[in-house]
Amino acid sequence: MCGIVGYIGNQDAKEILLRGLEKLEYRGYDSAGIAVNNGEGVHVFKEKGRIADLRNSVDNSVKANIGIGHTRWATHGVPSKKNAHPHQSASGRFTIVHNGVIENYEELKQQYLQDVPLQSDTDTEVVVQLIELFVNEGMEVEEAIRKTLKQIKGSYAIAVLDEQNADTIFVAKNKSPLLVGIGESFNVVASDAMAMLQVTNQFKELMDQEMVIVTKDRAVIKNLDGEVIERAPFTAELDASDIEKGTYPHYMLKEIDEQPLVIRKLIQAYQNENGELEIDPKIVEALNQSDRLYIIAAGTSYHAGLVGKQLIEKMAKIPVEVHVASEFSYNMPLLSEKPMFIFISQSGETADSRAVLVETKKLGYPALTITNVPGSTLSREADYTLLLHAGPEIAVASTKAYTAQIAVLAILANVTAKARNIAVDFDLVKELGIAANAMEILCDAKDEMERIAREYLATTRNCFFIGRSIDYFVCLEGALKLKEISYIQAEGFAGGELKHGTIALIEEGTPVIALATQENVNLSIRGNVKEVVARGANPCVISMKGLEMESDRFVIPQIHDLLTPLISVVPLQLIAYYAALHRDCDVDKPRNLAKSVTVE
Ligand code: G6P
Repeated sequence: MCGIVGYIGNQDAKEILLRGLEKLEYRGYDSAGIAVNNGEGVHVFKEKGRIADLRNSVDNSVKANIGIGHTRWATHGVPSKKNAHPHQSASGRFTIVHNGVIENYEELKQQYLQDVPLQSDTDTEVVVQLIELFVNEGMEVEEAIRKTLKQIKGSYAIAVLDEQNADTIFVAKNKSPLLVGIGESFNVVASDAMAMLQVTNQFKELMDQEMVIVTKDRAVIKNLDGEVIERAPFTAELDASDIEKGTYPHYMLKEIDEQPLVIRKLIQAYQNENGELEIDPKIVEALNQSDRLYIIAAGTSYHAGLVGKQLIEKMAKIPVEVHVASEFSYNMPLLSEKPMFIFISQSGETADSRAVLVETKKLGYPALTITNVPGSTLSREADYTLLLHAGPEIAVASTKAYTAQIAVLAILANVTAKARNIAVDFDLVKELGIAANAMEILCDAKDEMERIAREYLATTRNCFFIGRSIDYFVCLEGALKLKEISYIQAEGFAGGELKHGTIALIEEGTPVIALATQENVNLSIRGNVKEVVARGANPCVISMKGLEMESDRFVIPQIHDLLTPLISVVPLQLIAYYAALHRDCDVDKPRNLAKSVTVE
């Protein structure tokens, strides 16, 4: 979702901003822009479409050492050049980029800006016009920004340029992510560290309702009352090479292939010197003390949560509910007496999940975040964090984070079971190792997945994924992957539920991908496949070794039946990948989607 960069120093700001924006492309966007101040004035360049289009539109003769940039994912106003950021105040003195949603922008417009002709349909423009209004009323710039921020309801990360001050970027944040990067004789601003790793790995975190006065030599953090706040920088533990594609054509393929390695890294990360799985005892105790766990997540992370429920209930015997974050806040179920909340989020920034965390914190319930991003908002604000150690996930369609989430949930379930003196009749370290090896075998089956994608999905307009028990949850994820990147209408269904309505959609040749990895439901899912075949479907059964039948299209290696989602998802990820390629889709940056959804 929207991304922000800023630079002030001695180098050409344009190039650093454009490169920064390229690193934020993965978050999803539909337009982009930069503004630089060369001392003679602020120059704004913006375009609908890709950063490459923006690059072409930038006037290279403009040389400036200060600037801000933005990728926009439209919320208020269609994607267009007019609505792309940066936005400017009426006189052109102030220029802003903004990430978030100003909930009361209509009221602010009515209250303060009736006489100001607005140039765009965005909520953002109201902010920059207000700053100018307060400055025109006689306020200092900093004070005017503070006053503006105090009027705003909603979420924001902003960076502001003042044409009359080519030495300062004014920055502020509330609920939306923003970091300040520290360099020698330069400072930068970025929605995430990846954007500015090109110039520094030293960053300062910002808390909600803080602003920063950024010059090339200093970054002074203040609260909205103007009081200075001291904060030491942290070192981003990322390597610039972690965020390169290398020889891969797409990040998604690279990230699918990284999955076995991630599982092995996770085993190490959560093992003590005796080779036993270990998790911070405070976390385990918190789980142990609670009478019900509430998993809150969105998208792919929600699907991992569904698998997590099985793992925790089967191993640790604690009841678990799994909820879609965006529904939970507005429709909270009756909670148990001692609930604990587990937030699963690759990015750690999903606004829907954060809204629940804020709510449940107010109620005083303990919260654990399982995330890939240390220092992310959900991690900082929860009581406890477990990291996914998956390395940066750049492709919008989540792959390695999903399998890492399942592995961490399995480890959490296993360690909690032991703490509760519940016997687990298998060695999880060994079984995760077997799963990682099986993943590797599946990653090597790309040619076969490419054939399946071509055969079943090259021209179809829809596709069904069916499974029972834990396979059903993987079907939901397989369908989501296919929808996200190939735009084929896909549905994941519980095998037994299909005949209660959805089977009406099966026509001659409709592809139905069925998963059969669970012995106790193997015959039932086979029965469901027969039902759709009788109605003309084109079945593609993916089964697990030991349960296979002659007509199955593909057989995955045998692993422990609780861990099958770790590997059965791999063919589905690859099939979605190749289906998208066959249909000429932009695999890593699918239309309309954002990687990190920072608005509710
Ligand atoms: C977006 C992404 C999905 C992701 C979901 C939740 O919609 O496009 O891929 O699953 O957000 O993100 P999170 O970072 O909280 O896991």
